[in-house]
Amino acid sequence: MNEDLALPVGTTLDRFISKKQEQFPYATGELSQLLRDIALAGKIVNREINRAGLLNISGAYGNQNVQGEEQQKLDVIANIRFIRALRNGGEVCGVISEEEEHLIDTGKPNGRYVVAIDPLDGSSNIDVNVSIGTIFSIYRRISPRGSEVEARDVMQTGQKQVAAGYLLYGSSTMLVYTTGYGVHGFTYEPSLGEFFLSHPDICIPSDGKIYSVNEGNFDGFPETVKHYIRQCRQRAYSARYIGSLVADFHRNLFKGGIYLYPPTPSAPKGKLRLQYECNALAFIVEQAGGKATDGQQRILDMLPESLHQRCPLYIGSEKMVNEITTALQQDCRPAS
Ligand code: AHG
Ligand code: MN
Ligand code: MN
Repeated sequence: MNEDLALPVGTTLDRFISKKQEQFPYATGELSQLLRDIALAGKIVNREINRAGLLNISGAYGNQNVQGEEQQKLDVIANIRFIRALRNGGEVCGVISEEEEHLIDTGKPNGRYVVAIDPLDGSSNIDVNVSIGTIFSIYRRISPRGSEVEARDVMQTGQKQVAAGYLLYGSSTMLVYTTGYGVHGFTYEPSLGEFFLSHPDICIPSDGKIYSVNEGNFDGFPETVKHYIRQCRQRAYSARYIGSLVADFHRNLFKGGIYLYPPTPSAPKGKLRLQYECNALAFIVEQAGGKATDGQQRILDMLPESLHQRCPLYIGSEKMVNEITTALQQDCRPAS
C-alpha cells in the first residue's frame, strides 16, 4: 500500500485538547470544553467575516463603544457570537468585552472561569479585506463557585491567566493558544470545518529585525522611544505595521521583532487595553520565549484598576523588548 497517496490530515484541535487534558489526572475537562466553545464561535465569526462583502454586514454599526470608538457591524456580530458561546457553554460565570461597558454575568454561577475578550481586533481593517483577529484571556474565578460573578474575578493580574489565545482571520484562519505549557498554533481547514495542529511549540526568535509601530504618531512619542525607532532605521530594520494587533503580533512571533504602542500626549497610556489585548499576548509571548512590558514593568504583573484600562505596550523578541524597556526605565530613575 502506498501511504504517500493519502497523507494523514493531522491532529485536530479537539483531539489535541483532549490529549493535553489526559496529562492532568485531576482536570475536570471544563477548560478543555471552554477552549472548544471559543474555537466554535471563532469558526462562526470566520464565516461571517468571509461573507461580509456579500451580506450587508460591513461598515459602521452607527454606535460607539465604551471607549468612544465607532463600532463596526462585525464588532457587534463577533461580540454577540462569542458571548453567546461562552454563556451557552456553562463553564464561564462572567465576561468582560471591549464592546460592553460592564462586567457581563452569564447567569451560570457554577462556571469556574471568567473570560476577557476583544471579539474583533483591527476593526479599521474589516472593510478592506486586511487581516483581523480575536483575542481572549481565561482566568479561574476567585469568588466561590455557585455565587454571582464579582468584580474581583476579572481584576486579576495577567499572570493568573490559565489560558489565552487569539484567532487570526488572515490569508488562512488560525487559532494560537497557550495554557502555560508552550504555545500551539492551529490552521483552519474550511472544507472539513476543523482546526488542525500546524505549528506546535512556537518559539519566538530572541532577536529580530522588524519593528512595528504607528510612525504617524512619532512626534508625540517619548524621546527615548523616538531614539529607539531612529536606531531601528539606522540598523535598516524593516518597518511592518498592519494596524491589527493580532496580525502584527503573529508576524513578529514567527519572524522575530518588536511591536510598540507607546504613550502620546493625547493618549498618555497608549491605545491598547490591558485586560483583553495586552495580557493575552503577553502570556503567549512569554510562553514562546519573548517579553512584554509597558516600558517599566512586565505586563503580566500589572494589577488592573478598571475594566477598560489602557496601557503602553512593547512586546516581542526578548532582546528588543529588553533594549527599549531598559532605556525607558533609565528615564524614570531619579538623577543622582
Ligand atoms: P480594535 O479594533 O479592537 O479597537 O483594536 C485596534 C487596535 C489594534 O488592533 C491595533 O494594533 C491598533 O488599534 C492600531 O491603532 P492605530 O490605528 O492607532 O495605529
Ligand atoms: Mn483590539
Ligand atoms: Mn476590537
